[in-house]
Amino acid sequence: MFAASRIQTRAFSASARQLSKVAVLGAAGGIGQPLSLLLKLNPRVTELALYDIRGAPGVGADLSHINTKSNVKGYEPTASGLAEALKGSEIVLIPAGVPRKPGMTRDDLFNTNASIVRDLAKACAESCPDANILVISNPVNSTVPIVSEIFKKAGVYNPKRLFGVTTLDVVRASRFVAEIKGTDPKDENITVVGGHSGVTIVPLFSQSNHPELSKNEQLIHRVQFGGDEVVKAKDGAGSATLSMAMAGARMAESLLRASQGEKGVIEPTFVDSPLYKDQGIDFFSSKVELGPNGVEKIHPVGPVDEVEQKLLDACLVDLKKNIQKGKDFVAANP
Ligand code: NAD
Ligand code: LMR
Repeated sequence: MFAASRIQTRAFSASARQLSKVAVLGAAGGIGQPLSLLLKLNPRVTELALYDIRGAPGVGADLSHINTKSNVKGYEPTASGLAEALKGSEIVLIPAGVPRKPGMTRDDLFNTNASIVRDLAKACAESCPDANILVISNPVNSTVPIVSEIFKKAGVYNPKRLFGVTTLDVVRASRFVAEIKGTDPKDENITVVGGHSGVTIVPLFSQSNHPELSKNEQLIHRVQFGGDEVVKAKDGAGSATLSMAMAGARMAESLLRASQGEKGVIEPTFVDSPLYKDQGIDFFSSKVELGPNGVEKIHPVGPVDEVEQKLLDACLVDLKKNIQKGKDFVAANP
């Protein structure tokens, strides 16, 4: 039995290595291009499918000259181009949609991005219902529920395969702490829970190497509103793209490692979560162990101090509204 399951695991690992098709929707954009570049450099990716409403064939041709093993193709902006890009994908990353300009909140993007994500989710539900869907498009707190509602309507919803990408929040938190403490960011693993906008982003420094930082209001604010720093500095030319590409590529790499048999791969991500369902909150970001089936285990928030409890309380109020907004959108605009 043991030997048989080992052989099966090995067989799965080999086939997973041979068949790791990754699709990027919004591939010609500010995030899409560097993200696609990082995926082209990832030896675990064997096929890279790029789709955008403009420019994907050009990005695909450019990347296809890089001498790594994977095959890259940029697809035409048609329904059949999209379907072809998605077919057989193990992972679909979605950075399609408009970014913020100074003075905007992520929620201000809802009117434009909700329908973009809805339509792409419909295509995914049809062409790759078993893929891991990684939603980057903002507002993540609402776009993830949009995808889940669309998949439910299509009868193919698997809560273990839907992820809101919140990796950038932990990337930032670890970098910001390292700046304060003069340490190496790789040694600063900061738990960040909740959602991905303003007060819904809750860093838990009491669980870090530096528990006293949970009283550092400036640092907490910087993690919660780190996106604003970039939006302001880009001065109308968009929001974080390069750091986001790194964060998205890390999340995809973690999923590929887990699907290829590695144990103990943990990433924070916004998933269909039992943690606050009793309060009517269906999605929440906490540490998630990944596996061959997507979500393997959702970790609890863990111990928090008084300051963090207050942050969590504020997070849950906004998060509930953001999630409901996504669900209501699909109900009204199926
Ligand atoms: P961008 O405008 O540079 O690129 C977006 C791309 O999406 C464009 O190339 C556009 O043609 C494409 N697009 C639009 N509609 C499409 C559709 N229906 N199908 C396919 N492609 C489509 O924007 P960006 O800077 O790359 O940001 C993209 C999104 O990611 C924004 O919503 C932004 O807020 C979000 N974002 C999220 C995070 C996060 O942490 N989750 C971080 C940064 C940015
Ligand atoms: C970020 O955190 O950088 C992104 O969500 C983009 C934004 O609008 O801030």
